[in-house]
Amino acid sequence: MKGTRLCNLRCAYCHDWESGADQTMSFEVLAHSIAAAMQDDTHNVVTFAWHGGETTLLPMDFYRRAMALQSRFRRPGQRVQNRLQTNATRLTTEWAEFFRRNAFRIGVSLDGPSEVQDNYRPDAAGRPTFDRVLAGMRLLEEYQVSYGVLMVVDNTTILRGADALFDFVLELGLKHLGLLAVTPDNQPEATWLTPTVPYTSPSTMGAFLSDLYDRWLEHGDQTITIREFTDIEQALSNRRRGCKMAGDCLGDFFIVDPNGDVSHCDLFRGDSNYTFGNLLHDDFATIRAGAKLQGLRRQRASEIAAMAACPDFDLCQGWCPHERYLSSRHDPSFSEGCCGLRTLIDHIRSRRVGAPTTNRDTREQAQRPTVLATSVPLPMPKLGRSAGPFTHRDQQLAKKADMAAANT
Ligand SMILES: C[S@@+](CC[C@H](N)C(=O)[O-])C[C@H]1O[C@@H](n2cnc3c(N)ncnc32)[C@H](O)[C@@H]1O
Ligand code: SF4
Ligand code: SF4
Repeated sequence: MKGTRLCNLRCAYCHDWESGADQTMSFEVLAHSIAAAMQDDTHNVVTFAWHGGETTLLPMDFYRRAMALQSRFRRPGQRVQNRLQTNATRLTTEWAEFFRRNAFRIGVSLDGPSEVQDNYRPDAAGRPTFDRVLAGMRLLEEYQVSYGVLMVVDNTTILRGADALFDFVLELGLKHLGLLAVTPDNQPEATWLTPTVPYTSPSTMGAFLSDLYDRWLEHGDQTITIREFTDIEQALSNRRRGCKMAGDCLGDFFIVDPNGDVSHCDLFRGDSNYTFGNLLHDDFATIRAGAKLQGLRRQRASEIAAMAACPDFDLCQGWCPHERYLSSRHDPSFSEGCCGLRTLIDHIRSRRVGAPTTNRDTREQAQRPTVLATSVPLPMPKLGRSAGPFTHRDQQLAKKADMAAANT
């Protein structure tokens, strides 16, 4: 949910913020969106991931209204969760208290130590932000708000090396980390080998993550979780999968813009082929059945068919469609038959004692979930304990979607 695209920072790589009028979601759009997500009778579990722009530029009343609307439209037995991504420069005790009271899970964006963070993520006046983010994180800890850190990996971080990143994680006592390869603006018409910046390709990211995996393994503290490793390790053991390891995510995850436009995921901004409708006049059933989304699903099916012969296909399921969207346009290492994750999968598998060499043997166990629009649900333990309307399928949806909410 892009409540606003306004932002108080000017991150060097960001294509998500806007200035000027009409960048904030009206109550009408908010209400229609929440009603549409919650009244679809196939949505047993719904997670709202609040994104921006900067989420905390909105008055807290915006979120209070959202909470009230969720209560108003919640169907009996329906589960709802809220996540919020923030640059953490504006957090106050009131925000921390609000997040705690409403069980929000928070993502904090921080790119590294001050020399990296302040270079890439200055505020609108060009001032550094590292100290403010740190203060925001300490506040969340003080109020016992669950949070993880999202870091963008660009050339600087890669050149500094995996050890430097992990040292920083230890120095700050970070417990939950997600790493985002930096992405360029989408260029729908670009053909293979069209140059672009900034772009961390799958092979560059894979090599960096392999080094980081070794350092993380050597350190041995399993309470430090790194999302990209969890995704692969869980796929290797046929447990939970994030959206990126679940194959066709189209029709499962949506972004809602301030004007009510609905698109696939957060990552295809600038490509109108991925915008399906508007929640002021469409519902999710119509959007899912629409020609645009169905056309993209067919396109994705043919991409997946081209990768299906890879011995590790059962693990990656073709990985994230946006990774392929970029690599097929800009990555010299792009190959039709590989999603780009294989090197990292091989690396992690080689480091796991007694792990199977291929996942083919366990293909039958790897039941692929079919997930619902806007259903980005709760973590497994809660669902596992729940009774009533929550089916095995709901639990599968939860496995896939819980991590997806934090993926962008
Ligand atoms: C667009 S921001 C919105 C929420 C909030 N303003 C923040 O910074 O956390 C969400 C996440 O996208 C990341 N991001 C922005 N531009 C990116 C890019 N070009 N490549 C990869 N990640 C990017 C940000 O670093 C942040 O972690
Ligand atoms: S704080 Fe978030 S929305 Fe704002 S410029 Fe940075 S990444 Fe973009
Ligand atoms: S990040 Fe977006 S495009 Fe990629 S797998 Fe997840 S939902 Fe799909």
